[in-house]
Amino acid sequence: MSNGYRVAVVGATGQVGTLLLKLLRERNFPAGEIVAFASERSVGRELGGGLVVQGLGEQAVRGFDLAIFSAGGSTSGEWAPRFAEAGAVVVDNSSRWRMNEDVPLVVAEVNADALQAHRGIVANPNCSTMQMVVALKPLHDEAGIERLVISTYQAVSGTGKRAVDELLDQSHALLHEQAISTPESYAHQIAFNALPHAGSFAAGDDHTDEERKLINETRKILGDPSIAISATCVRVPVVNGHSEAVNVQTRRELSPERARELLDAAPGVTVLDDPDAALYPLAIDATGRDDVFVGRIRRDAGHERALDLWIVADNLRKGAATNAVQLAELLAERGLLGARADAAATPAA
Ligand SMILES: NC(=O)c1ccc[n+]([C@@H]2O[C@H](COP(=O)([O-])OP(=O)(O)OC[C@H]3O[C@@H](n4cnc5c(N)ncnc54)[C@H](OP(=O)(O)O)[C@@H]3O)[C@@H](O)[C@H]2O)c1
Repeated sequence: MSNGYRVAVVGATGQVGTLLLKLLRERNFPAGEIVAFASERSVGRELGGGLVVQGLGEQAVRGFDLAIFSAGGSTSGEWAPRFAEAGAVVVDNSSRWRMNEDVPLVVAEVNADALQAHRGIVANPNCSTMQMVVALKPLHDEAGIERLVISTYQAVSGTGKRAVDELLDQSHALLHEQAISTPESYAHQIAFNALPHAGSFAAGDDHTDEERKLINETRKILGDPSIAISATCVRVPVVNGHSEAVNVQTRRELSPERARELLDAAPGVTVLDDPDAALYPLAIDATGRDDVFVGRIRRDAGHERALDLWIVADNLRKGAATNAVQLAELLAERGLLGARADAAATPAA
């Protein structure tokens, strides 16, 4: 790697992709060349910094050390294995590969060692899971988590750029006493509303896929399938920044004071917890920041071995782009990039 790694960013025109390009530059990732990919709609578009959007194709996927995907599950399903077969390590933001046994699901501060076992594809967790496990890891290590009861308050940017436009258009229309267009991003109006329907319901399932991801991915990342998890994911009319009320029941006694101490020392966590001064994490303050913010740390009034927490993070940053770039950095530091091109690559698919 004398001249830097050759990096593909797939979904480079999207919310997450745009931020990925910015973070790769800001954090000085040792890239010799970055190639931006998006759908056929965007081919030829100039993205600044000399990048021109390319289309995906058999030849175009060759010669990369790293490919970071944020272009949805079907694009990842089709193209991630092809990049991996051609020698790249893929860091994938979609849900397509996360629960595959051969694919490590990694949060930089929580289970970085899982990267070692990758077979060409590494998955970046769901945004609401990501921020939660960064805060839960030190508590789990200290006292063992037995059960979680989670309610999320998820921002509209988690659905994509079109959903943000829809929230702003609806808000503008309603404030001007105009009728809104038929909702497209969600089943109902999102402006001035709260939808107990983040994600979608698969046939016959009474939980949304977002709730299932929170349950399954948390167990996989913390490496403990026995944790009992109850989740309700709610979409709220917040542009960016997911908030979560999390009730944490531990196997061993854990005081709020000790939890605060552990969280204060945890990597990637900032504690904001002074209710008398109205200090607690807020979505608008977390936006543009890479940390996970935790506050309202208190004993559950109904259970002597449970705590309540309020956890907030920028879903586009730590929930997606920041962690993806952290994983790329870890792969580079550990010599796990660039070693695959000559090897008989065994793709995770
Ligand atoms: N938003 C979040 O908080 C968040 C958090 C974690 C993970 N993710 C995941 O990250 C991914 C992107 O999210 P986003 O919010 O950035 O969405 P977005 O703003 O809608 O962007 C989607 C990107 O995917 C590209 N794309 C769509 N179809 C494609 C195709 N057939 N081939 C190649 N590229 C294609 C789009 O290109 P065009 O511009 O050409 O259409 C665009 O660059 C999703 O998988 C999402 O689940 C998002």
